[in-house]
Amino acid sequence: MAYLEIRDLQTHFKKRSGSIFAPTLETIRAVDGVSLSIERGEILGLVGESGCGKSTLSRTVMQLIRPTAGSIILNNEDLALLPPWEVRKRRLDFQMVFQDPYASLNPRMTVYSTLAEAISQRHGSVPKRQMQDRVAHLMETVGLDPRFQKKYPHEFSGGQRQRIAIARALAPEPKLIIADEPVSALDVSIQSQILNLLKKLRTELGLTMIFITHDLGVVRYLADRIVVMYKGKIVEEGEADALFNNPQNAYTQKLLAAIPKLSASA
Ligand SMILES: Nc1ncnc2c1ncn2[C@@H]1O[C@H](COP(=O)(O)OP(=O)(O)OP(=O)(O)O)[C@@H](O)[C@H]1O
Ligand SMILES: [Mg+2]
Repeated sequence: MAYLEIRDLQTHFKKRSGSIFAPTLETIRAVDGVSLSIERGEILGLVGESGCGKSTLSRTVMQLIRPTAGSIILNNEDLALLPPWEVRKRRLDFQMVFQDPYASLNPRMTVYSTLAEAISQRHGSVPKRQMQDRVAHLMETVGLDPRFQKKYPHEFSGGQRQRIAIARALAPEPKLIIADEPVSALDVSIQSQILNLLKKLRTELGLTMIFITHDLGVVRYLADRIVVMYKGKIVEEGEADALFNNPQNAYTQKLLAAIPKLSASA
């Protein structure tokens, strides 16, 4: 049985359009019948152009938006059938990492307080000494020097800030990480460091991961399997290498053709 199974998921939004004299309510089918499954320890790459519904799909899986229809089955449990307090508990098992760590971190909190707060979400109040050890360990896990724990987000570089955001996501000991464009705002040289870190974490912690990007080049390196989304639907799905070597769908072929080719000297 898959760790996470999504069945015919639909997330629609209503949007007012038309004139003020003749208003109409338009339905935006951001996620329009998506089914997919993810095995434990797998990295699934979710790709597609801007506006195709990637973030809406992930926010629905995170239970931040209620789906219009369909089901999300985690570990054999249909989340829609659980009472809200159980869903809140499960939510600790999945954490998100976003594109812009600066916006997602509280600028007034030191790394220590950011991570301590996230650890407490799972463990409640932890004795000070133990908390210090846990924070230091988390920082080391993501490649940050624990001596920087009293620093604030603005004192770090973009790559280091994304490491803090990853450490915060790891703090409640999640089983699933959804990373929504986590390297899109970073320099190319820093991107590969963060991708390597995510790969290492999957191996060391046995994490399951959904990695969202519009960049097929990035996801090829990381994902075991790739799902291509277009206008709220999945148009192609396959093992990463197979999809790259032999894309079936015309839209996937177009995405692949758009990957910039690096010259041998680059
Ligand atoms: N809260 C909302 N209310 C109304 N429409 C929304 C809402 N959130 C998303 N949408 C619409 O749903 C569609 C999918 O948006 P979504 O943000 O999921 O796309 P995306 O694939 O993540 O795009 P990007 O690559 O730019 O992040 C878009 O048409 C968007 O305008
Ligand atoms: Mg998005």
